[in-house]
Amino acid sequence: MKTLSLSSTVSLLAGSLALSVAGAPGVARAAEAPKPGEVRSRAQAFFQPVPDKMPGSDKDSAELVTLGRQLYFEKGLSANNSQSCNSCHAVDRNMGGVDNEPTSPGAFGKRGGRNSPTVLNAGFHLAQFWDGRAADLVAQAKGPILNPIEMAMPSEAEVVKKLSAVAEYPKAFAAAFPGQKDPLTYENIAQAIAAFERTLVTHDRLDDFLKGDDQALTGVELKGLETFVSTGCIACHNGPLLGANSYQKMGVVNGYANGEDLGRHAVTKSEEDKLKFKVPSLRNIALTGPYFHDGKAASLEEAVRQMAWLQLGRKLEDGDVKSIVAFLNTLTDKARASKGSASR
Ligand code: HEC
Ligand code: HEC
Repeated sequence: MKTLSLSSTVSLLAGSLALSVAGAPGVARAAEAPKPGEVRSRAQAFFQPVPDKMPGSDKDSAELVTLGRQLYFEKGLSANNSQSCNSCHAVDRNMGGVDNEPTSPGAFGKRGGRNSPTVLNAGFHLAQFWDGRAADLVAQAKGPILNPIEMAMPSEAEVVKKLSAVAEYPKAFAAAFPGQKDPLTYENIAQAIAAFERTLVTHDRLDDFLKGDDQALTGVELKGLETFVSTGCIACHNGPLLGANSYQKMGVVNGYANGEDLGRHAVTKSEEDKLKFKVPSLRNIALTGPYFHDGKAASLEEAVRQMAWLQLGRKLEDGDVKSIVAFLNTLTDKARASKGSASR
């Protein structure tokens, strides 16, 4: 995925500000409604539609994806059969790939310190977890099953033994991994779950707009897009996912109140990575509250207001918060849009 560096984006931003004075917050507010074609050509400098397919998905067979789906919903992957991946990352019932909790209770009720991020589109991210400590979906999937405050299984061998005792699994693994002598392995559990996750690609109205549909966004949503660009949110939230392509400090201009979690520093031990987190994707953001790595921003309005202050040193007016939130609501998967859309 193409990564825009912060400095190159900021200079792009300066250019776009000069071009769009009428769209800038607080300036000429009563000016006529933004023209879709003009907004689109500015937007295309920062955003691209979500690709139809995730990297690596071409080789995924139907059998592999079916097995992965079954494992994703398998409560037997937790020590007391109480939890599946779907417990913390619900993808059924039009859910946004999260549990909508500030932090998640694990199999035995204990909570970790971080908010569950969405699995939707996660395979497009530059790495997995808030701090990027897992390189990809396969590496990620091996973590929660053995994590004592998540699914709490005692060992890889115990997980394999447990699944082997369920009649359907040995057959399903053989079908998903043809030609392998001993296909029911911990590695293959992760491979299958990752294959299922590679199907979790969403499409929304911003995609339609970027591809040329002038009717896809309403006037206030177009205004919100312009405000998002002119305020400088695009310095970090850009690309097809509006994020998920760089690590940035939480609290660039004004410090974040909760400095407990040092983020990426735990992975690299580098001083300059203190308080850096993977910039979250904003696709499906209306479905995935509460917000931030610690789940402390209860609403999207609050997250937007805090971002402007912490990252850009700006106090947004209510109208600008409202239009940005209206824009962010256009990023909800069309198949899930009956939930969480405040603007339609
Ligand atoms: C008890 C709740 C819980 C369970 C069960 C759980 N997760 Fe998670 N998941 C989390 C939390 C919390 C994080 C963020 C942790 C961090 O960044 O340190 C996370 C992170 C992730 C991510 C990274 C997404 C991103 O944006 O970086 C993926 C993908 C994921 N989980 C998939 C899974 C899969 C697959 C399973 C089942 C094998 C699973 N999770 C089980 C809570 C859970
Ligand atoms: C300097 C980079 C940067 C800028 C500029 C920036 N953000 Fe963020 N944004 C981040 C990072 C990093 C996080 C994750 C912070 C955390 O949870 O610790 C984040 C988180 C968010 C979240 C919550 C996502 C989630 O899943 O919890 C929203 C919403 C958001 N940003 C919107 C915006 C808006 C709107 C703007 C402009 C007013 C903006 N951001 C400007 C880097 C940035």
